[in-house]
This record gives sequence, C-alpha cells and structure tokens, in this order.
Amino acid sequence: MLYCQMGVTIKYENLGGEKMPYVDTKEILSDANERRYAVGAFNVNNLEFLQAILLAAEDNRSPVIVATSEGAIKYAGAGVPLRGAEIFVHMVRAFADKMSVPVSLHLDHGRNMEYILAAIKAGYSSVMIDASHLPFEENLRETSKVVEIAHAIGVSVEAELGKLKGIEDNIVERESVLVDPNEAKVFVEKTEVDFLAPAIGTSHGAFKFHGEAVLDLERLEKVKSLTGLPLVLHGASAVPADLVEFANSFGADIKGAKGVPEEMLKKVIELGINKINTDTDLRISFVGQMRKALQEMRSEIDPRKFFKPVMKGIYDVVTQKMELFDSAGRG
Ligand code: G3H
Ligand code: 13P
Ligand code: ZN
Repeated sequence: MLYCQMGVTIKYENLGGEKMPYVDTKEILSDANERRYAVGAFNVNNLEFLQAILLAAEDNRSPVIVATSEGAIKYAGAGVPLRGAEIFVHMVRAFADKMSVPVSLHLDHGRNMEYILAAIKAGYSSVMIDASHLPFEENLRETSKVVEIAHAIGVSVEAELGKLKGIEDNIVERESVLVDPNEAKVFVEKTEVDFLAPAIGTSHGAFKFHGEAVLDLERLEKVKSLTGLPLVLHGASAVPADLVEFANSFGADIKGAKGVPEEMLKKVIELGINKINTDTDLRISFVGQMRKALQEMRSEIDPRKFFKPVMKGIYDVVTQKMELFDSAGRG
C-alpha cells in the first residue's frame, strides 16, 4: 500500500506481517544498547508533529519513540490527564498499526502521579518518573514506587539522576548538578529502573550554553560501565544555526541560541547514550516554517495549507536526526 502526503511516499511493505509496530520502549532501547546506536525520542506538541515524526520514521526505516510531556497531555485532553493520554494512545496506535517500524509512546518528565497513572492506564509503552529535583533517597523512593506499579502491567520506566542545568567550570557547582556514577549504580540496582537519564551538562530549550558547549563525557562513560543500562540524553537539541537564522529571517527573535553540537551527539552515542530527547529543534523548525507560510500565503484561510510546509520542516529535521543517531535503517 502506498501512502502519500506532503510529497512523501511511503510503502507499507510489512502490512499484515508478523511485526507488532506498537512496542515497549525497552524493546527498542535494548537493541540500541546492544548495537550502540541511539533512537530519537521526539516530543509531540500536536497532531502535525506526530504525523511528521511517524512519516519520517517509516520512510527512514527507523524505530521511533513518541514523547509527550505532561503539558502536551494536558493540552491534548483540554485539561483532563486521562483523556489526553488516551487521545495520544489512540492516535499513535492508529498510525503504528499500519506501519512497519517499531513505534513506542513515552511519558516525558512525569512529575505528577496523576499523569503517570493516566499514562499507564491509557496504555503508554513507557513512563518517565522525574524526581531528579528531590534528594537522592527520595528520588529512589519515588522511582521505586512507579517501577512497582508500571512493571506490574508491563510498562517500562525511565528515571533521572542529577539536574538538567548547563555547567560552568566551577567544580563545586558541577558536583551538585551532575550525576554521581556511584549513586547511579546503587539507584539502578535498588529501583530496577529500565533506562536512566544521567545529567552530564545539558539543559532544556534553545539556550543551553553561555560559552563553549561542555558535557562531562568521562562521567557518562562511568555511568555506562557501572550500570550497563540504556542511557538517555535530555536537552539534546543541536539548535542548528541555519534553523535559527531561517526562523529569525521570517520575524522570529531567537538570539544567542546554542545547543549540543552534532559531533558531541555522535560522541555520546559511542559512549552509551541510546535515547536522545529532542523537542526544541522541532519547535524552532515549526516556528520558522509557520512564520514563512503566514507571510507568503496572505489570502489563505485554510490552516491545513499552512501546516503542509510546517510538517515537511519537522519531517526533514527528524530525518536528519535519524541519520545522525544511526537509527535509520534499523527498523
Ligand atoms: O522536556 C521538556 C520538553 O521540551 C517538553 O516541554 O513541558 O513545554 O511540553 P513542555
Ligand atoms: P531539548 O529542549 O534540547 O529539545 O530537550 C528536550 C527534552 O529533553 C525532552 O525531555
Ligand atoms: Zn527532558
């Protein structure tokens, strides 16, 4: 069967085959861990993001993790967590059932038990319990609680250690913010979490570093060798200059933005990162293409006409990431 959208043609070669495309995130990440590549966990802000991400996954024959924040669930469900989570499960499954690459749905940064339970109940593949702002023992306790509930019905769990915050050269500051590899070993053994996000110097959004990009790669290597788990890099957008300039040239005002350089992303994959969380780059692309479309189609009133180039922009960014992460062709 052929599916054609925004100039993209997709072949569903495996339709009706044995593959079950909506899978446990753990399954996707175990393969990535074994064969040392990474899979993008792309944040979905609305339906258009979801379509573009899944079309790119199918075309690039790449496994993919669809990530929704609590904010995205709240938005989709018009304020009702369970409704939002169910909407995402239905949408992702409706696509995945017709796809030939593994797709999973993940709750990103679950901090509120209501959202975590809603995601588990609705049928998410995995949830993140983010208690990284709490002291170690409390983080451990909160994470164990979620692991017990989620594992009982086959949902895998991600947790975070250390805080997401850009790092400077100040040693005291570094130690208080970044993951402690020995703590990571104990944490993983006690909680039985399935994948771990160690803070190594990234932060969310478009302004990650003041000067040079600095990540603590030695620390990452230690966490990998002490835990052996699939590891997750949050705040991993590269914030490419061309995307930012494009958006600015159509009226955006994103100045001094700086992300994780692509070479550094390749390096962290070599050192054991298997899940790369990306939201900001997709948002910058969205904003740039939207501004351009609105400027150029002044007499247009059909929103779908604006969304066509917007979705193509996201599709292109995701395609480029899948090549960079080496997940293309693995699905
Ligand atoms: O890690 C956070 C993601 O970028 C989602 O952000 O809470 O604005 O949806 P959000
Ligand atoms: P960015 O803001 O760098 O895209 O990170 C997204 C993220 O970590 C979502 O969990
Ligand atoms: Zn994150």
